[in-house]
Amino acid sequence: MSPSNAEIADAIKAHHLQMTTKLKGLTEDLMKNGIPDQDKSNNIISCRDDELPESSDTSVNPSNEKYTDTIEHIIEFLNFELKPHAKAEELYLYPVANGIQRLIDLISSMLEEHRLFENLIGRLTTKSLKKVSDIELIATCYDLSVLFELHASKENDFIVTEMSKDSSIEFGDILHQMHKFISEYSSSLTDNRLDVRTMAPASRHESIFSRFEQLKTGQQFLLVNDHDPKPLYYQFKAEYPDQFEWEYLMSGPSTWQVKIQKV
Ligand SMILES: [Fe+2]
Ligand SMILES: [Fe+2]
Repeated sequence: MSPSNAEIADAIKAHHLQMTTKLKGLTEDLMKNGIPDQDKSNNIISCRDDELPESSDTSVNPSNEKYTDTIEHIIEFLNFELKPHAKAEELYLYPVANGIQRLIDLISSMLEEHRLFENLIGRLTTKSLKKVSDIELIATCYDLSVLFELHASKENDFIVTEMSKDSSIEFGDILHQMHKFISEYSSSLTDNRLDVRTMAPASRHESIFSRFEQLKTGQQFLLVNDHDPKPLYYQFKAEYPDQFEWEYLMSGPSTWQVKIQKV
């Protein structure tokens, strides 16, 4: 027996909760590991001397490895889970919700929120190129975490609940299409990774160009490197003018990811 609309609504809500919890947890880790102790103690204005943290306190600063890992983890989550989730909603959920008269205005504001998420995510994925400071980066993650929780609550309480009551809506089909889109979107990048970090520097460019040569129009691969491959970008521009798209999905601190698509 196929699940009822109410059961599907519960599944969507559970997925929202799982995403919200993950982003919140990672953001808390980032704040814990990334805000230097110096700043924290300076902010405690009425702190007595004997309440100041000991100098042997284990608080860390932005060059900390845990901090670096957490940022990269958050960016991966945003690229491979949140972005395709929002895209799938725009393709399969929102158009159907738009058929319900009283949801039309809400859907248009939800789409604006998706654009806001894209902008904030863009700040994080190009942070080294745009010289986004650590405190700004942490604040951006905080914004995203709080905004996403609110956004998901509105989807749960208004859109999903409302849609589940409409028996003419095939909720199961919508969810199935969304899942299919999300898994294809993510696997189009994860299955087509070219990680050159372990290759000898001399053979890296050759491998990258040969991978690009093998692509058909519209196909892409994800280049993973340990530094900004900017010189390669100029080489691509010279060799394949107007034939490729170059999008940074991560720009440090220790890992660089660029989506290269043949167009
Ligand atoms: Fe959404
Ligand atoms: Fe959502």
